Amino acid sequence: MTTSQLILLDHAVALLSVAAWFATGVTLAIRRARLAFALLAAAVLMILGRVVTVAMLAGRGWWFVQEKVLLGLPLLAVTGLAAVLIAGPRLLDTRRTPSKPVPASNVVALLAAAYAALAGLVVTFLAGYPLTWGTALIAIALVGAGALLTARVLAAPAEKTADSHPGFSRRRFITVAGGAVVVGAGGAGVGLSLMPAESVTAGGGPSPLSGSRAAVSVTDLRGARRPTPGGTRRQYELTAQTARVRLPSGREIDAWTYGGQVPGPAITATEGDLIKVTLRNTDIEDGVTLHWHGYDVACGDDGAPGVTQDVVAPGQEFVYQFRADQVGTYWYHTHQASHRGVRRGLYGTLVVTPRDRRQGDEAADAEKLDLTLPVHTFDGIMVIADQDGRTEHTAPAGTPVRLRLINTDSVPHWFALAGTPFRVAAVDGRDLNRPGEVRGVKLRLPAGGRYDLVFGMPDTAVALVLDNDREGGVRLRPQADSAGGTPAIEDTSGWPELDLLHYGTPVAAPFDADAPDRQFTIVLDRGVAMVDGGLAYAQTVNGRGHPSIPDQLVTEGDLVRFTVVNRSLETHPWHLHGHPVLILSRDGTPSSGSPLWVDTFDVRPGEVWEVAFKAANPGIWMNHCHNLPHAHQGMMLRLRYDGVTTPFGHSHTARGVDSARNPSHGH
Ligand code: C2O
Ligand code: CU
Repeated sequence: MTTSQLILLDHAVALLSVAAWFATGVTLAIRRARLAFALLAAAVLMILGRVVTVAMLAGRGWWFVQEKVLLGLPLLAVTGLAAVLIAGPRLLDTRRTPSKPVPASNVVALLAAAYAALAGLVVTFLAGYPLTWGTALIAIALVGAGALLTARVLAAPAEKTADSHPGFSRRRFITVAGGAVVVGAGGAGVGLSLMPAESVTAGGGPSPLSGSRAAVSVTDLRGARRPTPGGTRRQYELTAQTARVRLPSGREIDAWTYGGQVPGPAITATEGDLIKVTLRNTDIEDGVTLHWHGYDVACGDDGAPGVTQDVVAPGQEFVYQFRADQVGTYWYHTHQASHRGVRRGLYGTLVVTPRDRRQGDEAADAEKLDLTLPVHTFDGIMVIADQDGRTEHTAPAGTPVRLRLINTDSVPHWFALAGTPFRVAAVDGRDLNRPGEVRGVKLRLPAGGRYDLVFGMPDTAVALVLDNDREGGVRLRPQADSAGGTPAIEDTSGWPELDLLHYGTPVAAPFDADAPDRQFTIVLDRGVAMVDGGLAYAQTVNGRGHPSIPDQLVTEGDLVRFTVVNRSLETHPWHLHGHPVLILSRDGTPSSGSPLWVDTFDVRPGEVWEVAFKAANPGIWMNHCHNLPHAHQGMMLRLRYDGVTTPFGHSHTARGVDSARNPSHGH
């Protein structure tokens, strides 16, 4: 059973348990004692069932069960036991004296157990991991308050005679004392919950804020200003503007664009060239930036508004400059209100080819087919095409073909290549070690990720199938004259997924990932948390939302390890700026193929990933879910190097232009 199936099973049993306790209380209240007895037995069984599901889930990791083990189950066990002890004898008694009235206390005890079961479920859904004292106290107080209130309501008809009742003072005492405990616990819980997050140290190790390092501002962390000898300067001007654009399908949409086109201008370079891009904004009211996704630029060029620069508001500009030292397939996009901006078209491709190719003869280059194919969904229409909007290409048999797939959407896409074997030459721009030839497999490309597929053109047609849609995708034909009919395309829908963790050939790791200098655990979930100053049902990291998630602090040269845990029922494509991470394992199974250096990895529901990287690029770097709406809903934090500061404030919100109106720093 997968972890996410176990999570669902546990939710189901927990829900049934709530229902069983409520039903027991209610049936007893209406004097259906025999049914109540059966329901009580079911409720008790359900507790035992949850002990089993929680124990199984605990085997997958403490993060999946912490709040259940420390609060939900104990609370239910205590109240359930009390309910059995209080109501059980009366229920057993029922056959002999069915007409005997049911004491209110029995019903109260059963309903209290129901409240406890409900509280456990609510804590799981609204608070999750990690359980805090604040949450625990509030939950206990609410269960207590529910029980007291129920007691009052049920006792109300008897109130008039209560004066003469010998139990009166005792009941009064219980009410007052219970009320005091409830108010005390609830007050303490709320107080604890409202306390500000203890600043910084989210990770292990001693606080790196030694104070011995001279502070350096992100504005001073800028890249090379000249190409390597023999390289050239590549200058681009990108103007962010709204525009009406025509999709390859012919349909017109209102888009947000760089340069009036989607995708924006294709940025290409040869290794060692200098890339200089002047970004201007005409009329994108949110403001814009350029983030070089997967490209490890110096921090000051990273394009993170509020961290590495101010957002570029209408009428403003910002100049990015970096050397094309990394070969491969990348992309760029706005990082300002990116959940909206990227979706509407503020993105483009960045491809850097190896330098030695320049020395080779031009003719050899011309005989290759090298296609950059970003996937993007506009208003529900999925588009995959090259820079010219073409989806059909011709290449003589034997031509070396490279397809650069880029997922610019927020959800994963599935690719299948019908008609030819192929290799996955690179993942996220980085070459794999000796990738083997595969055929009849599907590839799942995470949001933000890239795959380079290579093969020799066969003498029959090839189809790149996207998300099992045999009509769309990209077609390659061996000769132009064969373009007459649509070649039959295999049904790829049943093809198995190629697991890249076990693809290609291993090489020794460049570091010992078992001895990290820093270790951070990132538990992804949903829950109630503060996001941008407002309470929200957020996408959370360790129970918090951006910007209230403590920074991860590292020192230059550290070997850093992340454990990324997905407790939720959605996929989270995790993305760290400025560094590729080496995949160590998924769900405890080590990566056994080629080293996988990625900038985005899909953490599916219930999965636990271990990754490591060298902190070798000083700065303050965003670390977030690349399902961009999730990032917007809180799933975003920062990795900060010791001694690096920023003069910029948070400006990532929808109203980010507020800060954009401030004069730009450093430009
Ligand atoms: Cu492509 Cu911070 O993202
Ligand atoms: Cu996510």
